[in-house]
Amino acid sequence: MNQDQLKHLVGRAALDYVPAGQIIGVGTGSTVDCFIDALAARIAETGLAVAGAVSSSERSTQRLQRHGIHVLDAGEVTGLGVYIDGADEIDGQGCMVKGGGAALTREKIVADLAERFVCIADESKLVQTLGAFPLPVEIIPMAAAQLTRRFAALGGQATLRAGVLTDNGGHILDVRGLSITDPLAFETEVNQWPGVVTVGVFARHRAKVCLLGEMRGGAGGVRTLTF
Ligand code: 5RP
Repeated sequence: MNQDQLKHLVGRAALDYVPAGQIIGVGTGSTVDCFIDALAARIAETGLAVAGAVSSSERSTQRLQRHGIHVLDAGEVTGLGVYIDGADEIDGQGCMVKGGGAALTREKIVADLAERFVCIADESKLVQTLGAFPLPVEIIPMAAAQLTRRFAALGGQATLRAGVLTDNGGHILDVRGLSITDPLAFETEVNQWPGVVTVGVFARHRAKVCLLGEMRGGAGGVRTLTF
């Protein structure tokens, strides 16, 4: 079993967290693509009813709609039971780094609507300390130089992600070299810097559950972590 197969495995496992007849929040990324495909297959096979989805990106919206799943605007709901999304890193408390797919702002908005964040990830994403994966930060371009200096003062090297505009028209800084030992304090601090739209640390909106795909000999299995 390889990493891709583990993503399929956790995508299917997340179906257990989809409440019948309700609207769910759907994240972004290759693992979420597996979840969306598994959800569509389950709907086709069993007639599982899902009232619709609030999506965190144009990419996921298109995939959901291709499968005939109704997509609602965030403004059309007052709350969601569950939000299902991947992560670039997750630690032992359920705090995450997200935004590898540049969807972090909408991901945080949809996560904020949900009672429960269910993270789906393969075992390579589980870390002791966040920061080895370059931290994505959505920014207003005018602030790029000043934000680069601010991250440098924390020991990080920020680079603008070339050729990428987010679904909101924002730019992404990727910050390397950080060791984020207190994710909540870090998120709170960086979110206040002028020009930051969203920092890709999810500590306030951390996962309550993580379905972690792991190799077990030649086969694969899903470990459920609860936080
Ligand atoms: C997108 C994200 C994704 O959840 C994260 O990048 C993980 O993606 P993948 O499932 O492809 O590894 O935060 O902005």
